[in-house]
Amino acid sequence: MPTVFFTSASGNIGDSAVEQLLHDEYNRVILPTSNSSKLINKYENRPGYDRVSIEEGDISDPLWVDGLLRQHKVDSLFINLVGERELIISLNLLDCARKAQISQIILLSIAGDLQALPPSLCQHMAVKKLLEEQVAHDRGHYRWTFLGPTLFFTNDERDVILKHVLEGGAYRQPHGAGCSRVDVADIAYVIKKVVKDPNLYHARKIDIGSRKAYTDDDVELIWSKAVGRSVKALRPTPQGLQSMEELWRGQVSPIWGRDMRLMYEEFRDHPFTVSEQAYSELVEVLGREPARYEDFVDRIVAKRLP
Ligand SMILES: NC(=O)c1ccc[n+]([C@@H]2O[C@H](COP(=O)([O-])OP(=O)(O)OC[C@H]3O[C@@H](n4cnc5c(N)ncnc54)[C@H](OP(=O)(O)O)[C@@H]3O)[C@@H](O)[C@H]2O)c1
Repeated sequence: MPTVFFTSASGNIGDSAVEQLLHDEYNRVILPTSNSSKLINKYENRPGYDRVSIEEGDISDPLWVDGLLRQHKVDSLFINLVGERELIISLNLLDCARKAQISQIILLSIAGDLQALPPSLCQHMAVKKLLEEQVAHDRGHYRWTFLGPTLFFTNDERDVILKHVLEGGAYRQPHGAGCSRVDVADIAYVIKKVVKDPNLYHARKIDIGSRKAYTDDDVELIWSKAVGRSVKALRPTPQGLQSMEELWRGQVSPIWGRDMRLMYEEFRDHPFTVSEQAYSELVEVLGREPARYEDFVDRIVAKRLP
C-alpha cells in the first residue's frame, strides 16, 4: 500500500487531496502538522481514517522528519509549503527524502516553464524555480513530478476577499494582465493520479488551471452577475498595489506584504497562464476539462446569499 507523507494537510489543497488519496485509492497518509487537534477533528469520522497517521511536530526539524519517514516507510513525499522559510525547509525535506530512500517526490510549484523565465524578485515565486532545479538535479535518487497550479479558487473564500465583495462590492485582488484560476479539487485529482503511477508522471511538470486568463474586467462581470449588483475589482495601479501590500502586511507580516505586492506587479505585467500544450496535457490527465471559475463563484455566492 503506497504511503504518502503529505505536508500542509490543514491547508487549501489538503482537504480534497487527503480525501481522494484515502477514498478513491488504497493509500496510507502521514500528515505532519503543528496542530494535530485541527486535523483529527477534520478526518476522524471520515472513511479510511484507520490509514491516517497524524503527527504533531515542527516540519522545519529534519531529525523529526527523518524519524517519521523511516518509521512509516514512506514511499511518496508531497512537498507543499508556504512562508518565509519555504526554501530551507523544502531543501531539508529533500535531504531527508534522499537519506530515507524515498521513491517519489511530488513538488507543489506554480504554473509555467520557470526555468525559461527571468529570475523573480517575489520570494514565493523565486523559490519554486530553485526547488525545481534542485529536484530535477537529484535524478537517480527518486522519481519526481512537479505540479504547476495557477491561482486557487479558494483564495476568494477568505474574508479578505469574499466578505468585502458581499458587503462592499469590492474585489481586493488585481488580476492585471490576466490570471488563470484553478479548483483545488482538480489539483487533488492530479496528485492522486501521480501517486498511483509514479513512472508515468516521472520527470514531468503538470500545469493545472483554466486556459482562460481572467482580467479585472472579467472578474467584475463574473462577481457582479453572481451577487446581482456592481462589484469593482482592485486595479494594479500604484495605489491599488499599495493597498494590497498594506492588506497582507496586516494579515501576515511586513515582509510577506511586500512579497505579495511583487507577485501582483508580475501579474500586472505578464499574464499568469497555462500554455495550450500544457492545457491539453492537463485535460488528458483529468479526463475532462478543469472546473470553471464562473461556477465556483456562483456556488460560493449562493451559499452565502441564499
Ligand atoms: N494559493 C494560491 O493561489 C497558490 C497558487 C499557486 C501555487 N501555490 C502554492 O501552493 C502551496 C500551498 O499554498 P497555500 O496558500 O494553499 O497554503 P496552505 O496549503 O493553506 O498552507 C497552510 C498550512 O501549511 C502548513 N505549512 C506550510 N508551510 C509551512 C512552513 N513553512 N512552516 C510551517 N508550516 C507550514 C501549516 O500547516 P499546519 O498548521 O498543519 O502545520 C499551515 O497552516 C504553496 O507552495 C504556494 O506557493 C499557491
